[in-house]
Amino acid sequence: MKPTVAVFFGGQSVEHEVSVISANQAMHAIDKEAYDVVPVYITKQGTFYSGVALFNIANYINEEDLLKQLVEVCFVRAEDGVYMEKTRGLFGRRIRKIDVAVPVVHGTNVEDGTLQGYLELLGLPYSGCDIASSALGMDKAVMKTVLKEAGVAVLVCRCFYKEDFYKDSGAVVADLEQNIAYPMIVKPYNTGSSIGIRVAEDRDALIECIEYAADFAERILVEHAIEHLREINCSVLGDHSSAKASILEEPVSSGEILSYEDKYMSGGKGGKGTKGAKVGNAKQGMASSDRKLPADLSDEKTEEIKAMALMTFRALGCSGVSRIDFLMDTDDNDKVYVNEINTIPGSLSFYLWEASGVSFSELMDTLIRLALKRKRERELLHFSFDSNILKNFGKTGLKGSKGK
Ligand SMILES: Nc1ncnc2c1ncn2[C@@H]1O[C@H](COP(=O)(O)OP(=O)(O)O)[C@@H](O)[C@H]1O
Ligand SMILES: [Mg+2]
Repeated sequence: MKPTVAVFFGGQSVEHEVSVISANQAMHAIDKEAYDVVPVYITKQGTFYSGVALFNIANYINEEDLLKQLVEVCFVRAEDGVYMEKTRGLFGRRIRKIDVAVPVVHGTNVEDGTLQGYLELLGLPYSGCDIASSALGMDKAVMKTVLKEAGVAVLVCRCFYKEDFYKDSGAVVADLEQNIAYPMIVKPYNTGSSIGIRVAEDRDALIECIEYAADFAERILVEHAIEHLREINCSVLGDHSSAKASILEEPVSSGEILSYEDKYMSGGKGGKGTKGAKVGNAKQGMASSDRKLPADLSDEKTEEIKAMALMTFRALGCSGVSRIDFLMDTDDNDKVYVNEINTIPGSLSFYLWEASGVSFSELMDTLIRLALKRKRERELLHFSFDSNILKNFGKTGLKGSKGK
C-alpha cells in the first residue's frame, strides 16, 4: 500500500499565504504513484481542516467559502499509528491513517518548532528539521551564537529586549554605538520576509527603527548594515550524513532590502519597512522572484559558500531542505557572512534543486524518505529505562519519595 503523506500548511503566521503557495506547489509535485497526499490546512486561528478543495489554489481567495468545502479535523494517536479524524459527529469520525507528515509552513508559531513539537507528541514521523533545529533557525540571535561557536562567519550583532530599551533607551543606544558602526540594520529577532526590518543611518533613525521593530517582537537584533552588498543563497538537502549543497542563486536586490511585496507579490511596491524598495515580479511565491541562477561568482567563491552552507546546516542540526542566505560585502574583499537560515524555505527551494539536476518530485521523495529514515534511527535509541521507581510508591505513598 502507498504511504499516506499529510502536507501541513498555513498557521498563525504572517507568512500564512506564502505557505499556502509553497504547500500547493509541493502537493502537486509529490509523485501520486508512490504516495497518497492529504492536505492539512491550519487556519490563522489554528484550526485544522482537510479536503480536496485544498488542492486548488484558486479556492483560497475567500476563506469562508473554502472552509465550507472542508472538514475540520484532528489527529489521534492510536496503537497502530496516527489517524486523522473529523472533530464533529457521533459516528464514523475516523477518516484515514497518516504515515508521514510534511510540514510546509513558514514563520513563527509553526516553522519555529511549534508544529514539529506537535508532530513529535503525536509520534508521527515528519520531514525537515526537528524541534531544536527549527527553533534555532527562527531565532536570528541564538543562531548566530551557535554558528560563531562552530567557526562560521556571521556579522557582530547585539540583541536586547524591547522592555530594556523602553526602560533606558540611552543605555541601549550607547551600547549599540560602541559595538556597531552606522548604518545599522534593525530586525525583530524572529520574523521573516523582511517584516519589521529597517536601516538606520543615525541615532534618531536608530530609535525610530527600534520602535518600529518593537511592534513585531519582544527581542530586537541590531547589526551593521553592509552598504555595498551582494546576497547569495544556497539550499542544502539531506541530513547529518547525506547533506548536499545546491547551485547558488543571487536574488536581484542591488543592495536594497527585499520587501515582502518584492518577494511574493506581482508588481508590488516597497513595503513600509523598506528603503527604496524595488518592484518585484513574483506570482508564485519564492519560485518566481527575480534572481541570477547560478550566481555569477568564481568557482573558488562558489565552493567557499557551499562549504559554509553545509557547515551551517550541520552546526544547527538540520534535516530536510533548508536555504541558507549569505551577505557578501563587496567593499571588504567579497567577505561572506551567513545571514540566516530558512529551515522551510519558500517554494521549498525547488527551483534551486531543479537547476542542480534534482526534480521537484525527487525533492519531495527525498524529504519523505528522510522523515522515515529519522523515525527508524530514533527507534534504535533508548527513551526509557526498565527501573521502575514508581513501584515503591505502592507501599509508602509520597512519603517514600526523595526529600519527603
Ligand atoms: N547586515 C545587513 N546589511 C545589509 N543588508 C541586510 C543586512 N541584513 C539583512 N539585510 C537585508 O535585509 C533583508 C532581510 O533581512 P533578513 O535578515 O534576511 O530577514 P528576513 O528573515 O525577514 O528575510 C535581506 O534580504 C537583505 O536585503
Ligand atoms: Mg531573509
